[in-house]
Order: sequence, then C-alpha cells, then structure tokens
Amino acid sequence: MSTSDLMQKIVSLAKRRGFVFQSSEIYGGLKSAYDYGPLGAELKRNLMSEWWTDMVHSRENVVGLDASIVMHPRVWEASGHLAGFSDPLVDCKVCKERFRADKAPRAEAGAAITLTFADKGQAKTAEEVIEKQFGLKLTRDGRDLKGATASDRGYVCPVCGSPFLSDERQFNLMFKSSIGPVDPMSAVAAAIEAGQLNGLSGRELRTAIEELVKPTAVYLRPETAQAMFVQYLNVQQSMSMKIPFGIAQMGKSFRNEISVEHFIFRSCEFEQMEMEFFCEPGTDDHWMAYWCEQRMAFWKRYANSPDAFRFRAHEKDELAHYAKGCFDIEYMYPWGWGELEGIANRTDYDLGKHAAYSGAKLEYFDPQEKKRFVPYVIEPAAGATRGVLVYLLDAYREEEVAGGGDGEGNTRVVMRFHPRLAPIKAAVLPLVKKEGMPEIARRIVEDLLKRGINAKYDEQHTIGKRYRRHDEIGTPFCLTVDGETGTDGTVTIRDRDTMQQRRISVDGAVQEIEALLRR
Ligand code: GAP
Repeated sequence: MSTSDLMQKIVSLAKRRGFVFQSSEIYGGLKSAYDYGPLGAELKRNLMSEWWTDMVHSRENVVGLDASIVMHPRVWEASGHLAGFSDPLVDCKVCKERFRADKAPRAEAGAAITLTFADKGQAKTAEEVIEKQFGLKLTRDGRDLKGATASDRGYVCPVCGSPFLSDERQFNLMFKSSIGPVDPMSAVAAAIEAGQLNGLSGRELRTAIEELVKPTAVYLRPETAQAMFVQYLNVQQSMSMKIPFGIAQMGKSFRNEISVEHFIFRSCEFEQMEMEFFCEPGTDDHWMAYWCEQRMAFWKRYANSPDAFRFRAHEKDELAHYAKGCFDIEYMYPWGWGELEGIANRTDYDLGKHAAYSGAKLEYFDPQEKKRFVPYVIEPAAGATRGVLVYLLDAYREEEVAGGGDGEGNTRVVMRFHPRLAPIKAAVLPLVKKEGMPEIARRIVEDLLKRGINAKYDEQHTIGKRYRRHDEIGTPFCLTVDGETGTDGTVTIRDRDTMQQRRISVDGAVQEIEALLRR
C-alpha cells in the first residue's frame, strides 16, 4: 500500500465510521480544524485517560493540574513566546502559496529548477507572470517551465518549485484575542479620528496600533506547559510536594500554524499531554534518562508495531533556547519518521524567567539539607491528537480471511486497537431477533454499562456483517446470544484479531471482559 493510499484510507474510514470529521463541513470546512466524532472522542479520551493513569494515578510524586487556557499576557512575555514563538513565513510570487521557509524543499544555489503546475493553462499564466515581473523567459513544456535556477536562499516553493519568493518575515504562532468589555478596535478608531496615526510609516503604524490594543490583548495558550511553571509554588505548597515531583496537565493548545499537514498530525487546535518534573540540579541527567525510558514504554505498550517508534536526539543547533538536551520520540508515519513527543531538559530557565518577571520566589527549600535552589525541569511533552493519528495508523489492517471468514468474503478491514484504547469494548449480538435472544443480549449490555464498560447492542444485518462492522471500528470482543444460550446459559465470545470463538457463561461475561481489558 502506498503512502498516500494508507492516509486516504485512514481519512475515509475516520469519516465513514465516525472517528474524525472535517470541522464545519456543511459550510465547506475550516482548514486544519477537525471534530472528533462519537468513536474518535472515545479513542482520544481512552488515550488521554491511559496517560493520566500512567503519569498521575500510578505515581505518588506526580499530581495533576487543569489550568485556564487564557493566562495573564505577561506569562508569554516571560516564557519568550511573544518575542520568539514564530515561524519564517514566505510567499511564492508565482503560485501565491504561503509556506514555512524552514520546511520548504531544499535546492542548492545555482541548481537548475523545473517549475511544475497542475495543468498547461496554469503553466502558461506562470510563464507570463515570470516574464513580466522578473524579465525572464522560461521554456514551457506541457505543465513544466524550465530554465530557472535556485537562488542562494537554498529552498524553493513547496507547491510549484519556484525560486521567485518574497522576503522571509517572522510570523507569531499565538492566536490573539482581547479580554473585557472594551473592544480594542474602538481605541484604534478613536486614535484615527483624533488624527494620532496620521503620517506614520507602515512599521510605525503597526507599532502604534499594537500599543493601542495591548491593554486588552490576551492569547490562547500555545502549550499546556507554562501554567505548570506559573502554579509551581501553589501546587508544591498546597500538596506539600517534596522534590523530585511532577505536575501533569493535558488539554487544548492553539497555534496559528502556517502549514497544516497530514490530517490531524499538525492542526491549529490540538491537545497535548505534558508533565513538568521538578528535580535538584545535578540529578537532571538521571531523570532525563528515566523519563525517556518511561515514555517510550508507554507508546509501545499499546502498539501492534513497537518497532515503528524510535528516539532522535536533537542536534545542538535545533535545541530550543531553553533546553540543555532534548529527545524526540518519533513514529514512522506513512510519509517518514516524524515527532510524536519531545522530552526536554528545560533546566531552571522557566522558573527563573517567571521569577524575574513576576517577582515571586520560585524556589525550593530542602528541609533536610537546609538548602534553597531553583529546581531543574524535565518535560515529557506529547501530542494527544497526534497520538490518535499514530494509533489509527498502527491499528489499520486489510486482511485475507481464509475460507471466507464469517461468510462475508475473503478480505476484511480490521482496526487492531489495544482493547483499552478501543472506542467500544464489547458488542452484544442476538443471532436472530426472536426466541428471547434480544432480551438476553440487552441484559448483558446493561450489566457491562453498569461496570463502566462501553458496550453496544447490535441486531442489524447478518451476524457476519455485524462482525465485520465491529472489526472495522476495532471492537475487540463480540458476544453472541444464540440458540444454545437459552438452554445452557452460555454465549460465544469472538476475538477480533484471531476471529476465534469460544463459549463462556452469561453470568461470567462481565468478569471475563473486565479480565481481558486488564491484560
Ligand atoms: N511544551 C513543549 C512543547 O509544547 P512541542 O514539541 O512544541 O513542545 C509537544 O509540542 C507535542 O505537541 C509535539 O510532539 C506534538 O506531538 C504536539 N504538537 C505540537 N504542535 C502541534 C500541532 N500543531 N498539531 C498537533 N500536534 C502538535
């Protein structure tokens, strides 16, 4: 299966089966925004709940936080996001694509370049634009234009391959909004009316307007991390936490990404699962190694293909300004290795910055050693929505079924989710809609639901079709009530992956499913 085939199949299954929908689809969709449908919402919740159990409920020295998305704007000044959280933005002067310079295809200065367009008409228009704007006559060959060379920028347009590009400008990724009853536009309008902005150059005008809207400006958080630094002291003191300890948080983050790509891999609104682990300076290398091992074990635990995960150490020149070291956990996506989680040694940078900007003493006093220090921080920062994509890709299988399987043909699509991630844990199916079978099936569903196990009653279509439907949404267990159930009190339990069936007692069905989910 080719790269684009697999992605297309995942996107199509995600929509058809209610995992992920394009946001606002009936209005033509909103670029890069996605809605998690009934099954996607379950899958995401299950993944985030496994993370919370693993990071918080399984450890005495990690506690949780659920902070507000909009924080004091000084937070983003202190963290460096206001000044530095930006991408280099470039426009292609030929096809008008807007893209990130650092992600564009590389081309060595002076190398011969072929520009390629969707059709001959577009190539002709581009030829005319280039001749008129740059005085350059290229040779047209169908959809291609030949005769251009790469500039010393070292990259070209990712869409048409053109080296005819605008200057790079820094584009801040934070979404800006305003807080309070005063509309900042009123302040701008009043300044214009009073003539205060007359005669200013473009740059001066921008600075003046920024000053006018500043008093009400707030930002949607671009990472969940900062609240855990800002609330470090409150959490440490209210819970009497002793170093080393961690604060974990998961939830929405927002980045006005220039290039959104690969379905839910990179979107403007997404969810993160982050933990800040505060430790004594000097022990940070030990904890870095510990958390790398723990986090890799987590991702592999739920995967069918554990070899599709690897570590990648950041080179010195790609390290974030605050980090002493960073390892990415990467996954082999259909388009190649890419980031799923980053584990960074953030040193005392963030606590130091927030202490300096806020005036609060963000230190730790060790009562045994009688010493005070600013803790170092190890941060495992994972993408929850990106994790959903990883497990959708990991689960997808098209299988040949020997002997026609359940009487439904020789191939099946099966989502081999780990049972604890699977949206529906058990489907309960009456073989036929009579002879008391529906009543018994409904009773089993009720018993499962009472124990918090997401189960579904399903009586539509033949039993073979129902099995296939549940294979495709990854339901790990199907319980079938049949003719024998009424006489011996047993049902069949079918395993999604092996398709093997065995009989278990109706009375023991709930315990059986509970045991299978604990594995
Ligand atoms: N606090 C550190 C931090 O936020 P990051 O590498 O920028 O680090 C952590 O983000 C994780 O969040 C990434 O590894 C990725 O899984 C996820 N992530 C970041 N930007 C994303 C986006 N635009 N869409 C989806 N997931 C994203």
